[in-house]
Amino acid sequence: MKSVKAIAPATVANVCCGFDILGFAVDAPGDEVKITLRDDSEVKIKSIVGDENKLPYDPAKNTASVAVISFLKKMGSTQGVDIELTKNLPLGSGMGSSAASGVAALVAINHLLGNPLTRDQLIPHAMEAEKIACGAAHADNVAPSLLGGFVLIRDYNPLDIIKIDAVENLYCTLVHPHLELKTEDSRKVLRHSVTLKDTITQSGNIAGLMIGLLKGDYSLISRSLIDVIAEPTRSAFIPGFDNLRQVAMEAGALGLGISGSGPTVFALSENEMKAQQTAQAIQSEFLKHQLNSDLYVSKVNQEGAKVLTVD
Ligand code: HSE
Repeated sequence: MKSVKAIAPATVANVCCGFDILGFAVDAPGDEVKITLRDDSEVKIKSIVGDENKLPYDPAKNTASVAVISFLKKMGSTQGVDIELTKNLPLGSGMGSSAASGVAALVAINHLLGNPLTRDQLIPHAMEAEKIACGAAHADNVAPSLLGGFVLIRDYNPLDIIKIDAVENLYCTLVHPHLELKTEDSRKVLRHSVTLKDTITQSGNIAGLMIGLLKGDYSLISRSLIDVIAEPTRSAFIPGFDNLRQVAMEAGALGLGISGSGPTVFALSENEMKAQQTAQAIQSEFLKHQLNSDLYVSKVNQEGAKVLTVD
């Protein structure tokens, strides 16, 4: 075995009330990374496709190579590799683009070296890459991209990651307006203190969402998809956001929120037809603000990143 190609899915972090502690993976799109063993000890980015020449080739700055370097260091390995990255996720979209590249790279290098680490053990290396990309080592994109499904980060110190066996039939609508928003900038507008009232509201909703997902209680999921911490300040970056929740719910969605740090918005629905109708409704609303958008409708992904080819 000389090379392995892996794919890692896009993710929705926060899921409204779970700021920095909850995320889920979707079936598509996903970033692909091929890793090939070299005869020396260099970690080199050989090619990047689909990024409009925006991503760095410097191995210290690209999330795919940073994740691989962190993994190799942990293994005490001086093995060199070539990295070929195919970006299918839009950059700066809030769909976990930086995370997907790092995760695909990790799954590929781990497989190439005989899977010495479990998926859980790969998470800290993917978080290293997130730190490079946006200045914060949050795990709510990388963990679901690696594990699939809904993933709760109960604590960061030490990491306590719990995969939730959520309802099977949940569809996600992602609408990406053609705006680019860096996570770093979207984090700068966050308030640094939260009132007791908002803390109580957010705690009630995250507990409700967890129970709703576990019981398959769509009404409870719907009532719980509220964010009083990040959304109030971040929504200013998304033209027309104030109407989107109502528009989505009229189209049949259970709820709507900002996907990760935005500007993509996500909605959850209990079947594909409602998810498609919701996509159209949100897209029309963005058009009223002269914003074109891309739509992605898929089931919640249950398996996470996977190996595509082995040569
Ligand atoms: N939890 C992170 C944030 C996710 O909202 O900043 C970034 O995609």
